[in-house]
Amino acid sequence: MNRRLGVLISGRGSNLQSLIDAIRRGDLGARIALVISNRPEAAGLLRAREAGIETLCLRPRDFPDRAAYDQALADALKAREVDLVCLAGFMRLIGTPLLDAFPNRILNVHPSLLPSFPGLEAQQQALEHGVKVAGATVHLVNEALDAGPIVLQATVPVMPDDTAETLSARILVEEHRIYPRAVALMLSGSWRIDGRRLLPVQKASS
Ligand code: GRF
Repeated sequence: MNRRLGVLISGRGSNLQSLIDAIRRGDLGARIALVISNRPEAAGLLRAREAGIETLCLRPRDFPDRAAYDQALADALKAREVDLVCLAGFMRLIGTPLLDAFPNRILNVHPSLLPSFPGLEAQQQALEHGVKVAGATVHLVNEALDAGPIVLQATVPVMPDDTAETLSARILVEEHRIYPRAVALMLSGSWRIDGRRLLPVQKASS
């Protein structure tokens, strides 16, 4: 339980909840040291408080520019000695101060099979495109939107009568399943990066 996570949210926090639940089940060997929201009304803040997790609301408008905001995020996470940062519905691009503070240590969950349908309303984009398979991706965060190396993905079928809501709900089940697994994988250290590929590494037995 000595590894420490920081979770960044903007809204309902169901992915945050999936991490809280995985920790309660003993699946992660980690705890959440801090939840930060950019929005005071984010429902996920309540979930965190109910789980006894420290919360912080940092509003972008209270900072002179994006770099200062991202530096404040990095400072808060570093002060709690966070090992891994998990974006869970955090609706902001991550800038250099935070990326540099946690190189290859920031994860995001996105409701599409990246690189298809990055950005907002990914499920609606998938429906409009007419894909027959959709899904969820957990990836490392870099300076571009939804573009870092892929850690885990899961697929779901797209049904003829799907709406954005029904497809989103089906994908969300997979988000909640793979995000804790991706966190466990990253914390295990049994991975390496080769170009864009995140590959498993067998630890040498002693
Ligand atoms: C999820 O669909 C996630 O993939 C996307 O934003 C949504 C956040 O949902 N980035 P929640 O706040 O975790 O419930």
